[in-house]
Amino acid sequence: MLLDVDNIFMNFGGIAALKGISFSVPEGQVVSVIGPNGAGKTTLFNIVTGFQKPTAGQVRFAGSVVTGLLPHRIAKHGLIRTFQKTEVFPALTVMECVRIGLLNNFQPSLFSVLTGKAEVAAFVKNSVLEVADILEMVGLHSKSEYLAQELSYGEQRLLEIAVGLAARPRLLLLDEPSSGLNAEESSRFSTLVRRLQKQKITIVLVEHNMNVVMGVSDQIVVVHHGEKIAEGTPEAVSQNRDVIKAYLGREWVTDAVG
Ligand SMILES: Nc1ncnc2c1ncn2[C@@H]1O[C@H](COP(=O)(O)OP(=O)(O)OP(=O)(O)O)[C@@H](O)[C@H]1O
Ligand SMILES: [Mg+2]
Repeated sequence: MLLDVDNIFMNFGGIAALKGISFSVPEGQVVSVIGPNGAGKTTLFNIVTGFQKPTAGQVRFAGSVVTGLLPHRIAKHGLIRTFQKTEVFPALTVMECVRIGLLNNFQPSLFSVLTGKAEVAAFVKNSVLEVADILEMVGLHSKSEYLAQELSYGEQRLLEIAVGLAARPRLLLLDEPSSGLNAEESSRFSTLVRRLQKQKITIVLVEHNMNVVMGVSDQIVVVHHGEKIAEGTPEAVSQNRDVIKAYLGREWVTDAVG
């Protein structure tokens, strides 16, 4: 397994946000974590990526325990996330934003920068090609010179994914990437997920858009009130009685699978 989330508990004062969640993500798969608002999905992402420390439990990535490591250390392992609330650098161009993501893979010493070391020159030169590739993949290549703040909301969300990709993730965690995307952008996003999967990037998705979830997921983990209530293929999960109960009043379960 690439990622093992093992019996995670998280208390905020008197609130038990996570109550012993476990699941595993095999390399190369797309796994979606779904559940009603407040179920604990973002908290789970925060714990996996080191932004919060769990009250109890362990996270293992590629066999190493990463619980308690700082976020930038975890990112160096190739565990990269995006945020539920869009975070781009408004005054930088699209290309410049993506270059910042690339720095996850390279931190030259001041000495090697000032002395014009070949490795630094090679990194900057290659980064131009890599940035172009990434922007092509997310469909923002024609906007590379735009300021991030000039993009539409949906484009900013795609830019955020581009920055994550520049960090060369082995596992990419996306927190509601398609919220605020229009129908065309959502379907472009689903295509992007499949392309990333072909490039051997493992993906964990928190997502409310059930067309996206049903279309791209190999496995789904359902969280409700901080507990895992079901997991399995999209077909199995959408027929699960506990899941239907948790989502009572929403039509997606039957809609999404027909
Ligand atoms: N820093 C915090 N302090 C106190 N309570 C928190 C904190 N972060 C989250 N919670 C609580 O933990 C629970 C889970 O929140 P979380 O944001 O993980 O849910 P979510 O599944 O991501 O919801 P949504 O779908 O709305 O994004 C909620 O009851 C929330 O109010
Ligand atoms: Mg959330």
